[in-house]
Amino acid sequence: MKSYVLITGASQGFGKALALEFASRKMNLILLALPDSGLPQLSNFIKLNMNVDVRYLELDLSLVENCYAVKNYIRDNNLQIQYLVNNAGVLSRGFFDALEDDFVLKQIAVNITAPTLLIKLLLPNIKTIDNAAILNISSMASFFALPKKQVYGATKAYLTSFSKSLAKELKRDNISVTTICPGGLNTTTRLCYQNRILSWIPRKSVLNPEDAAKVAVNAMLKRKPLVVPGFINKLLLALDKLLPEFVKDKLSNREINKFPETNVI
Ligand SMILES: NC(=O)c1ccc[n+]([C@@H]2O[C@H](COP(=O)([O-])OP(=O)(O)OC[C@H]3O[C@@H](n4cnc5c(N)ncnc54)[C@H](OP(=O)(O)O)[C@@H]3O)[C@@H](O)[C@H]2O)c1
Repeated sequence: MKSYVLITGASQGFGKALALEFASRKMNLILLALPDSGLPQLSNFIKLNMNVDVRYLELDLSLVENCYAVKNYIRDNNLQIQYLVNNAGVLSRGFFDALEDDFVLKQIAVNITAPTLLIKLLLPNIKTIDNAAILNISSMASFFALPKKQVYGATKAYLTSFSKSLAKELKRDNISVTTICPGGLNTTTRLCYQNRILSWIPRKSVLNPEDAAKVAVNAMLKRKPLVVPGFINKLLLALDKLLPEFVKDKLSNREINKFPETNVI
């Protein structure tokens, strides 16, 4: 039976870079994203050019029933998942009181509920293969208190914490759980623009999705529990433990006040 890597949020950005990275290592793919996001074309391109099997599912992961639909699709098609990559995420920037209620709920559903439930539902399948792995895409935001990223950062803090605990539990089943916490990634046009106008140190910490995808897949295959890609990101993490709170407040406020008052990126 062929085994597959299931990647959520694979239509663009980091998820697409991960799909190409796995395909370049000759791994078969099941790609997930919202309808009309170009998944059929991407799947076809990878299938034709990279000589791997590619399947896709277009559904909204903010709806719990669609997580069950993924499980049913895997079961009905008799597919084996070797690697599960929880990448789909809703990013945001904006003051909490200005965020729409529906948006906040969707962000929590996609960033927290969907990865948790997908792991729960697919675990019985994953357990049936040797050396299986789960790769969860979190963020550096999971470590810091960031104004204008309060809900996003908290969803990622959940994912990092959940993954670290789960990694310990699933060792019994020889399943590794790797969490990657990137800083800025040049994924969407808007992020590319915002990343260019950051001050020197944060700007230097930004990575291209292709480079971060390599780091993520290597870490997953080496069964590392947590990876922070890029030297500057590791440095920022270490500095965060040393700097007093008032200095951190000054730094984050200065950085964040540079951006226009847009809520959603
Ligand atoms: N970009 C950064 O600076 C950065 C930094 C650290 C961590 N990350 C994390 O990396 C991951 C990918 O980020 P990105 O920048 O590549 O984001 P992106 O370009 O906005 O892509 C997000 C992906 O998630 C999918 N998605 C969003 N909502 C969905 C839903 N309701 N149902 C199904 N799929 C949905 C999108 O599908 P559609 O194309 O169909 O909308 C897309 O494929 C996220 O988890 C993010 O938190 C990003």
